[in-house]
Amino acid sequence: MAAAARVLTEGGLVAFPTETVYGLGTDATNPEAVARLYRAKGRPSFNPLISHVGDLEAARKIARFDATATVLAQAFWPGPLTLVLPKAANCAVAELATAGLETIAIRIPAHPLAREILRAFGRPVVAPSANLSGHVSPTTAAHVHSDLAGRIDLIVDGGPVEVGVESTIVGCLDALTLLRPGGLPREPIERVLGRQLLAPSTDGDHARPLAPGMLASHYAPRTPLRLDALDIEADEALLAFGPAPVLGAAGAAAVMNLSARGDLEEAAANLFGYLRELDARGASTIAVMPVPHHGLGEAINDRLRRAAVGRE
Ligand code: TXA
Ligand code: MG
Repeated sequence: MAAAARVLTEGGLVAFPTETVYGLGTDATNPEAVARLYRAKGRPSFNPLISHVGDLEAARKIARFDATATVLAQAFWPGPLTLVLPKAANCAVAELATAGLETIAIRIPAHPLAREILRAFGRPVVAPSANLSGHVSPTTAAHVHSDLAGRIDLIVDGGPVEVGVESTIVGCLDALTLLRPGGLPREPIERVLGRQLLAPSTDGDHARPLAPGMLASHYAPRTPLRLDALDIEADEALLAFGPAPVLGAAGAAAVMNLSARGDLEEAAANLFGYLRELDARGASTIAVMPVPHHGLGEAINDRLRRAAVGRE
């Protein structure tokens, strides 16, 4: 923890576990550090970052919370929820980290190591997922190492993460919008709000989309995906879900089951690791069985759809 805080103080890059996925952290208030982070990931700098803080008091120094934002923060923080809010007047977060937007994305993570690092460092930490831009997010320290070794200063290994998909992003601006389905399902958020989350408007400025990281190609493995597969061909790998057998599975190049008992939380936790493993098998295609759309299924299906679009 001391080493992590020291690297952050010196403007370096630290990968650390959060409950959702591993993040690549740097000092949010240091523009050179943020530039270094974009470079290490190979990420376009028009794509803004999430500022991670240790508590609500720290969050209020960088963003303006209205009554609704306060309700969501109190109900779900610390946890896998990111709020997009108006920036506070004296927000210390570097312009580069928010890509020049008037708004800022904030999250209080729940992972004990993330919380300790934030406490030891004492300033906001921007942390995108700790993968090369375009790869799936890392859910183990080994995933981080395979993408970023030699490009960053330190990896804090906290074992496999618990949730497995990135945080849910809710825009708390003029309207309440679900900008990215994620590790906190829509249903409990809507229950607390007493109303439905809207879909983000799509008629925005294309050079600066509302949630730029939601570009379709964001989560793509190299191997093409075939979604909603009910059968499988000889040279395909199979990403299964649930107990039902699949026609042709015995002849598949590889088979991994997200959750044989059909549990969506288990499936989310396994999703990115299994995609990485199947991607490494050299199959022609990864055939993916249907996954239900409720609860965490919304985030799982979102990531699968993006992975299927590929990097065309
Ligand atoms: O679970 C997570 O959220 C992980 C862990 C490390 O916290 N982080 C993560 O960060 O997924 P990243 O950078 O991979 O995704 C951040 C998303 C991007 O889609 C970005 O466009 C969006 O948040 N975002 C950031 N600031 C925004 C803003 N002001 N308005 C709209 N979207 C924003
Ligand atoms: Mg990411």
